[in-house]
Amino acid sequence: MSFYEPDKIVCNGSLFRLFITKEQIDKRVAALAEQVNSDYKDKKPIFIGVLNGAFIFLADLMRHVSIPCEVDFIKLSSYGDDKVSTGHVTELKELDADVEGRHVILIEDIIDTGLSMKYMVDRIQEKNPASVSVLTLLHKPDATKHFVNIDYVGFQIPTHFVLGYGMDYAQEGRNLAQIYVIDDVT
Ligand code: IMP
Ligand code: MG
Repeated sequence: MSFYEPDKIVCNGSLFRLFITKEQIDKRVAALAEQVNSDYKDKKPIFIGVLNGAFIFLADLMRHVSIPCEVDFIKLSSYGDDKVSTGHVTELKELDADVEGRHVILIEDIIDTGLSMKYMVDRIQEKNPASVSVLTLLHKPDATKHFVNIDYVGFQIPTHFVLGYGMDYAQEGRNLAQIYVIDDVT
C-alpha cells in the first residue's frame, strides 16, 4: 500500500514541512487504543468523532480497539477557511446516537483554544451519559482559552498551524498520511 507522504508540501499557497511521521503517529495511536482497551473493558464505550478533522484518526484508532464499542459523529465548524478560530461554534450535523447512560469518549484531531471541545462536552453532558472522557491526537496547551479536562493526548505541540492526517487548511491537505507544520516558524 502506498501513502501520500512527501517531506514538504505547498497547500493553498503556504509551505508546510514534515512534523510528525507516519511511524510516530501509528505508534501513538496504537498506545492510545491500548489505554482505552484497558480503561473501558466491560463498558462498551461509544466513540463520538468530531467531523471533519477526526475521521482518519478515529478510523485508525478503532482498528486497534479490541473491546466491544460503537461509533457516531457530530460535525462542528469553528475555523471557517482560515488558520485562526472564528471564536464561535456552529453545529453542522447533530448526534444520532442516544448516549443516555453510555460511556462516551469524545474524539478530536486537535484541541487548540478548547472552544469546540468545551462545546461538545457541555452538549453531551446535557444528555445524561454514564461518563464522558476526551481523547485527542494533538493538543496545543499554550493556545488554551476555554479549559476542558483532557483524558488522553497523543502529542502536545506548540501553537503552530498543522496539516495532514485528517487536518486541513481551507479544506485541503486532509489526505496527507503524516502531520506537517507551517514553515514560517523557526
Ligand atoms: P478549538 O475549538 O480552537 O480548540 O479548535 C479545534 C478545531 O479547530 C479542531 O477540531 C480542528 O478542526 C481545528 N484546528 C485547530 N488547530 C488546527 C490546526 O493547527 N490545523 C488544522 N485545524 C486546526
Ligand atoms: Mg476538528
